[in-house]
Amino acid sequence: MTPRRILVTGASGYLGRRVVRAAAGVGEVVGTVHRNVLDGVETVVVDLTDRASVHRIVKAIRPAAIIHTAAVNPGRGDEGTMWRVNVDGSRHVAEAARAVGARLVAVSTDVVHDGTAAPYPDDARPSPSTGYGRSKAEAERVMVEALASTTLVRTSLVYDLDEMDRGTAGFAARLAAGEEVGLFSDVVRQPIRAETLAEALVALVDVDHPGPLNVAGAEPMTREAFGRAMLAFWGIDDRGLVRSVRAAEVAPSTPRDLRLDCRLAEMLLDRRFPGVAEVLAEAERLSGASPPETPRA
Ligand SMILES: NC(=O)c1ccc[n+]([C@@H]2O[C@H](COP(=O)([O-])OP(=O)(O)OC[C@H]3O[C@@H](n4cnc5c(N)ncnc54)[C@H](OP(=O)(O)O)[C@@H]3O)[C@@H](O)[C@H]2O)c1
Repeated sequence: MTPRRILVTGASGYLGRRVVRAAAGVGEVVGTVHRNVLDGVETVVVDLTDRASVHRIVKAIRPAAIIHTAAVNPGRGDEGTMWRVNVDGSRHVAEAARAVGARLVAVSTDVVHDGTAAPYPDDARPSPSTGYGRSKAEAERVMVEALASTTLVRTSLVYDLDEMDRGTAGFAARLAAGEEVGLFSDVVRQPIRAETLAEALVALVDVDHPGPLNVAGAEPMTREAFGRAMLAFWGIDDRGLVRSVRAAEVAPSTPRDLRLDCRLAEMLLDRRFPGVAEVLAEAERLSGASPPETPRA
């Protein structure tokens, strides 16, 4: 039997690289890249904002499923680029998936919510308060419009233990330069290990769930607690430069409580999505080394 083809958009990204690894276990993987390269897997270069290219590539590859991770995240491009990639690009992917009869699992975010009505059920209507959140909420809408069966995976901050996540890397760079880093003590998220999320995305290919589905780590924690835990895990000396700050005072549009109810995804996938303390404790158990302290909020 020919293995089924799974197309992973954003294969060169932090999450996409882990999705490629997880998908390799269940099918023949092809990844899309844009500006970067990825070795060890078949890749095609495509700009998702180019509708004709997306259709041509998807038609040529004829995947059984597409796992759509590509996006422009906050700080990675101006609002126009973010909108073109996140909204137009996602529409192109969903239309192309429909054209070849491919299953589509797409990555969304907890930031489609404004943080005033947590914990959010899977089907909570988006209420974004940031430009990024608005682009991802519109991406959700256009994908479902193009292909009603699309699963929209709303997730939280993504990190892993074999490569520093972008947020922590940014904090580390500022600390190394002797700059202060302010971490929000009034913003609550449910960080998820990228490897866990990648495995869930691949498993969802075989689950019929149209529309939004929350997939996030089990432990709600403040952005400050998460930031400090990651800096400690990577052995970064905070040099007394990390400050506790309140988003309410310095960045009022930041959604503050983004807890997600993930019980349905746990049930559908028959697995748990461990929280940060549990992931770090398990890593410590496996390595036999002493763990960094996980600060509690
Ligand atoms: N990181 C988080 O904490 C977080 C939290 C919630 C949700 N998410 C969502 O998770 C997904 C993955 O995020 P990530 O952090 O892994 O992102 P990332 O590391 O920044 O990777 C983004 C990917 O998108 C690709 N891309 C960007 N512009 C493109 C374009 N015009 N055409 C084609 N591909 C393009 C990039 O390709 P090149 O590198 O080749 O240019 C890269 O592979 C996104 O949908 C994001 O919204 C992330």
